[in-house]
Amino acid sequence: MAQQFSQERLRVRPSSREDAVVARAQEYFERTLIQVGGKPVGSMAALQHPGREGALNYDEVFLRDNVPVMLYLLLQGRHDIVRHFLEVCLDLQSSAYQTRGVFPTSFVEHDGRVLADYGQRSIGRITSVDASLWWPVLCWLYVRRSRDWEFGVSQKVQRGVQLLLDLVLHPTFEGTPVLFVPDCAFMIDRPMDVWGAPLEVEVLLFGCLRSCCQLMELAQKGNTSRLLDQRLLLTRAWQRDLRLFLLKHYWVTSKTLQVLRRRPTEQYGDHQHQNEFNVQPQVIPPWLQDWLEERGGYLIGNMRTGRPDFRFYSLGNALACLFGLVSAPQQRALFRLVLHNREHLMAQMPMRICHPPMEGDEWRDKTGSDPKNWPWSYHNGGHWPSLLWFLGGAILLHEQRHPSADVLLMGQMKAMLEECYWSQLNQLPRQQWAEYFDGPTGTWVGQQARTYQTWTIVGFLLLHHLLRVNPRDVTLLDINTP
Ligand code: GLC
Repeated sequence: MAQQFSQERLRVRPSSREDAVVARAQEYFERTLIQVGGKPVGSMAALQHPGREGALNYDEVFLRDNVPVMLYLLLQGRHDIVRHFLEVCLDLQSSAYQTRGVFPTSFVEHDGRVLADYGQRSIGRITSVDASLWWPVLCWLYVRRSRDWEFGVSQKVQRGVQLLLDLVLHPTFEGTPVLFVPDCAFMIDRPMDVWGAPLEVEVLLFGCLRSCCQLMELAQKGNTSRLLDQRLLLTRAWQRDLRLFLLKHYWVTSKTLQVLRRRPTEQYGDHQHQNEFNVQPQVIPPWLQDWLEERGGYLIGNMRTGRPDFRFYSLGNALACLFGLVSAPQQRALFRLVLHNREHLMAQMPMRICHPPMEGDEWRDKTGSDPKNWPWSYHNGGHWPSLLWFLGGAILLHEQRHPSADVLLMGQMKAMLEECYWSQLNQLPRQQWAEYFDGPTGTWVGQQARTYQTWTIVGFLLLHHLLRVNPRDVTLLDINTP
C-alpha cells in the first residue's frame, strides 16, 4: 500500500491558460479523426509522436477509445460522423459461424480496404467483449440525441441488435445471468487475472441490455411482432436478474463485510443461500477496513467460486452509477469512498485504473511477469487521465437527478472534481497528453505510454464541456430516459 503522500503539493491550482489549452486540445482532436469510404468515421487511438517509430496499432479506430469521441461529436452536433461510425461497425459485425454477432475491437482502412481486428491480429490474440457491448449503448445515445428514429428502427440496426443479443440470451452451462469471459477481454487487455465475470464487462452488459431494450421498444411502437415482444421480455428479465446478481454479490460496505466475515461455509443443497460461492472469511483483505471506512461502498472486481476479487476498478464503478445499476444512495456511498481514498485514486493524475496493484509473486503468477503491467504501472494500478470524465459524468448526472440529496457530500465531490480537472489542465499539455501515468502518486509519465492519446485529449474536452460549456448536457449520458 502507498504511504500517505503530501496533498499540499497537489497540482490543483487554477490556471489562466485554460482557454489556450482547450483550443490546442481541440486542434489535436481534429487531427485524430480519420476516414473510411471517403468520410470521417472516428479517431485513431493516438497521434504518432514526432520522432518516435512503431505506432503498433494505435493508428486504428478502437471502438472503446471512440466512446468519448462519439459523445463529444454528439455534443457538437456532428451527427453524420457518429452515424457513419455506427454503420461501419455494423458492416463489420462478424458473420462467421463461431463469432456471429461480435463487433471488432478496432478497424482501419488501408488502400481502400477496411481491415478489422477481432483478436486475430492483436498481441496475444485478445478477443475483446466490451466493443460489442458498447455498440448498442452508443447507437441508442445517438438515436435519442439526433432524433434519427428512422435509423434506430431500420432493419440493419434491429438485425444487429438481435445478432448481438444471440450471444447473450441463450442456454449455457451456467445458471447465472453473467457473461463469462477470458482474461484480457476489455479495456484491461493484458493478463491481469480478470477472467470470469469481471465488473466492467458485467456492468457494460447491463448497459448493453438496457440500450437494446430501448432500441427494441422503438421498433415495437411501429409494428406488432410476437418475436420482438418475446425478445423484449427475455432481455428485460435478463437485465433485472443481472442487476440483482451484481447488487447481491459485488456490492460491499462496512456492514455487508461484517456479515460476510461471519457466514457459514461449506453449505450444500437447499441451505446454501447465505454463502453461494463458498467464500472463506480469510480471503477478505485487511486493507478493506480503512478503504471502506464507515459509510463507503463499492462494487468489487469479480466473483468466482471461493475467490472474490476485492480490487477496486474505477471504470466499472463509474459506469454502474451512470447506467443506474446502483441506486442513488449507493452512488453516494461510492462517492464517499472515492473522497476518502482520494490520495490513492486521484493523487497527482486522476484517476487510477484499479487498486491495489499486484506485486511480487502475485504479479509474476497472475500477469505472466508482464513488464508493462509492473506494479503501479499501466493496467496494474497505473493512472489513466481518460477515466476521469466517467466519474465526473456520474457525479454531475447524480447532481442533476437528485439536486437536494446530501448537498454537503455533493459539494465536496464537485470541489474534488474541479481540482482534478485543474490537475489535468496543468499537467497534460506539458506531458503531451500521455496515455497513462506510473507510480503510487501517478506523477511519472507511463514508461511505455503513447503521447497525444486520443481518449486522454477528448476525455479532458468532455469534462471541460460538462463543467464549463453546458452542464445540462450531462443528461446525454443517461441511457435510461426514453
Ligand atoms: C491498449 C489499452 C486498450 C486501448 C488500446 C488503444 O491496448 O490497453 O485499453 O483500447 O491501447 O488505446
